[in-house]
Order: sequence, then C-alpha cells, then structure tokens
Amino acid sequence: MMSEAIPNLSAFDDNALDRAFAALKQQAGEEAAALTSADGLEAFKLRWLGRKQGILTEVSSRWLKGAPPEAKKAVGERFKTLKELIEQLREAAEGAGPTDAVLAAEAIDITLPGTRRLTGAEHPITRTLNEITSVFAALGYSVGVGPEVETDFYNFECMNFPPGHPARDTQDTLVIANQERRPLRDRLLLRTHTSPVQMRTMERQPPPVRIVIPGKVHRNEADDATHSSTFHQVEGLCVDTNITFSDLKGTLDHAMKALFGSSVKTRFFPSFFPFTEPSADMQISCIFCGGKGCRKCKQSGWIELLGCGMVDPAVFAFAAEKQPAYDPKKISGFAFGMGAERIAMMKYGVSDIGQFYVGDMRFLGQFA
Ligand code: DAH
Repeated sequence: MMSEAIPNLSAFDDNALDRAFAALKQQAGEEAAALTSADGLEAFKLRWLGRKQGILTEVSSRWLKGAPPEAKKAVGERFKTLKELIEQLREAAEGAGPTDAVLAAEAIDITLPGTRRLTGAEHPITRTLNEITSVFAALGYSVGVGPEVETDFYNFECMNFPPGHPARDTQDTLVIANQERRPLRDRLLLRTHTSPVQMRTMERQPPPVRIVIPGKVHRNEADDATHSSTFHQVEGLCVDTNITFSDLKGTLDHAMKALFGSSVKTRFFPSFFPFTEPSADMQISCIFCGGKGCRKCKQSGWIELLGCGMVDPAVFAFAAEKQPAYDPKKISGFAFGMGAERIAMMKYGVSDIGQFYVGDMRFLGQFA
C-alpha cells in the first residue's frame, strides 16, 4: 500500500522533486478536507504520520535516504515543508472537531423525554409515625424505641397483666420456642403492644417523663381488610407531679386537632386496660362527615381512635423497684396508645390494610 502511495523517484532534479512533493501535498490536503469523524482522523494520522509505515516515514527512507548525495539538501528541504503541512492539517482537523454530519449522527436529541429515575420516598406508615411523633415532639416530648422481641415480664407482668390474667388472652402472640426451662417472666415473645417501653423508660430515668414511642407490634390476629397480625403503634407516657385526667384530655385533644384539623372534636369513654386506672377509649368526630353520620362512622358521627388512661399505681410500683422516685403517692401520669395503620388509613383514604405491606409500587408511588 505504501509503495502505491509513493512512487520511486527516477530523477532528483528540482522539477522532478517539486512535482513529486506537490502530488503528496495535494493528496494530503484532499484527504484532510474529507475527514468527517474522529475515526477518520485517527486513520489519517496513522497513514501519514505512523512511525513504522506512515507515508512520511516511507518518504524519509526512500526519497531522502535514497537520494544521491548532491540531491540530499533539496529533498530534505521539501521533506521538511511536507512534514509541516501534514502537521498543520492534523492540527486543523483536531481543532475543527466533528463536522455537522457527524454531529447530526451522534447528537443527543434534547427534545426527547428524559430517563426518569425513581427516587425513594417515605412509606406511608413511616410517614404517619413521624407525623404523630412530631406533634408530640412539638409539645416537648422525647421520642424513644424499645425491643420488638420482649420478655413476658415487660410485655405483660409489669404492665399489670399477672400470669393467668384473662386480659392476656386478648393479646395472644408468637412466642420464641424452647424456653420452658426459663422462668415465665424471662420468656421471649413478639411484643403485642408498645406499652412495655413505658416501663423500660421509667427504669432508665426518674420523673418527669414525657415520651412517645413508635414501633412495630404483633398479635395472633386473622388478617382482613382492617386487621393485620403485624402492625404499628405509637405509645405515649407523661409522668410528673400533679398530672391529672384534664392534662390527658387537653394533650390528646390538641394532638388530634394537629393531626386531623382544628375542627375535629374528641370524646372519652370509660374502658379497661390493666395498666391504667381509670382507662378510657378516645373517639374523634368523624373526619369524613364532620360528625353528621356516614358509612365510615357507621352513622354514629364518631370514630374510635386510641386507648388511654391514668397510669395504674401498680405499674408505678414496678418502676419504683429500680427508680424509687416513681412513688404513686408523690407523682402521677397518663399514658396512651394508638394504631398507626388505622390513622394512616383514615388520613390517606386507604381501605385495605394489606396495601401497606405488599410493596406494590402502584400503591406506594402515590405517596412519593
Ligand atoms: N397497649 C394498648 C393496646 O395495645 C393501647 C393502650 C391503651 C396504650 C391505653 C396505653 C394506654 O398506654 O394507656 O391495646
């Protein structure tokens, strides 16, 4: 190929040399002008400037070194200008960048829609837990957590469910296997409520206490549209001197207005929980009909939302074993517990609790 590109020189007079070099210059100029791509430029450089087989190397070894002594100077001068020309052509081609044709072929069409990347978003239950805890954080409550695998003592006994107490039957759960050799109070189970973290908190710190505790809980429960064997609660505990039922009502009334809007009303009904006395169920005016009565509130105008009450002296007695300041004669407190799924379903209009757990992006994407 190279021998085709440069003929052998038969004469070394000025005219013959001028013609031979002019032919190469013209050829190089034409090739450079026709360059349209980066690949083409690479090939041009290799063809003309390649160290081993490039045309300049060939010219140097055949025309220059092969020239008779008297013609060496004339060939050398012309070789130098040819080499300078090739370098200039290369520089110009490199500087010019791709031609319009190449640009058109390689360009990105910025009018096309982009590739959308999914960004993560808070799960609606996480969001609800955060919303609830921030309402209380704004009132000066701290936020705590406790273990999901709990002992019988914390989940039941110290919450005033003695062994064999019928209230235990309402909170059946999964228990860790092969623990029969341990004393009952040390046996492990999946906690049925976040209430045991009340005791873990009081054992760690003397009063006053204001804390909310979000967390996952487990019950032996048949799954249906509104029940799940795994769900989430937010527990609350407030202990100080002279805490009364009015404090409980005022705090929860404020929290419900912050969560559902200022027109929401609350009311309290007597209830029973082993760890509070008195105990109450709190209802809010139906957020769907404003209290007039609709299908969602079963025409009653009210929706039951949480359990609450004044901390039972028996619970304080357990706390006082580690922190004597929990003396029920000197301090008092209230507690409450609410289900996060129920609140999320109401706030976001979700009719099937199972949607929270299956990870269907068509559902979760609506909360992004
Ligand atoms: N632990 C109760 C449950 O899971 C909810 C509850 C009721 C929590 C009353 C409380 C309370 O702190 O005072 O059903």
